[in-house]
Amino acid sequence: MTDFIHRFEPATSAGSPPLLLLHGTGGDENDLLGLGKMISSGSALLSPRGRVLEHGMPRFFRRLSEGVFDEDDVRKRAHELGDFVAETRKRYGIAAPVAVGFSNGANIAAALLLLRPDALAGAILLRAMVPLSGPPKAELGGKPVLLLSGQADPIVPASNSAQLAALLSEAGASVEHKVLPAGHQLSQADVTLARGWIGSIAAEAA
Ligand code: MLT
Repeated sequence: MTDFIHRFEPATSAGSPPLLLLHGTGGDENDLLGLGKMISSGSALLSPRGRVLEHGMPRFFRRLSEGVFDEDDVRKRAHELGDFVAETRKRYGIAAPVAVGFSNGANIAAALLLLRPDALAGAILLRAMVPLSGPPKAELGGKPVLLLSGQADPIVPASNSAQLAALLSEAGASVEHKVLPAGHQLSQADVTLARGWIGSIAAEAA
């Protein structure tokens, strides 16, 4: 199996969904632990480091230029990550996680939803783009997805995030898409909305 350098923190309260934390370009496995705790304080946290290096900066897949992806690599890396999630679920005894991905991490989470829907219980996609131009027919069976976009995001055009929301909805996900008065960086509103959303899906699952 493909291993990833990662951090794992066990749950501190039953009933909070495990989170799969996926950092942005140049981040690592430590980056989103604080965000994960702010969003869902009792959740188990599984946080891998992207295995692709771009000028020394970790990412989850190769890109040809900003916003232009090597789609063969997107597919390959999404399957590697799907295998890693399956393996670590057994190793740590956790349920299917909710992905919390930022930027490049949100894009691999979107690819994982489309290519390996069983890997995730749902996803919070922060500043995500359409990861594949010819996505497979996925069956998302009502999986909850929160997509938070920035109105002034210089990397993700509004049309692209709207297309991603449509793509995931057509695949059967239950998508909530909000466009925030923000750029590509996260804002306090992202944390507040993500926390509320996680709370509501945990309550529904209980
Ligand atoms: C990507 O490459 O996934 C996106 O351009 C976002 C980024 O990492 O800057």
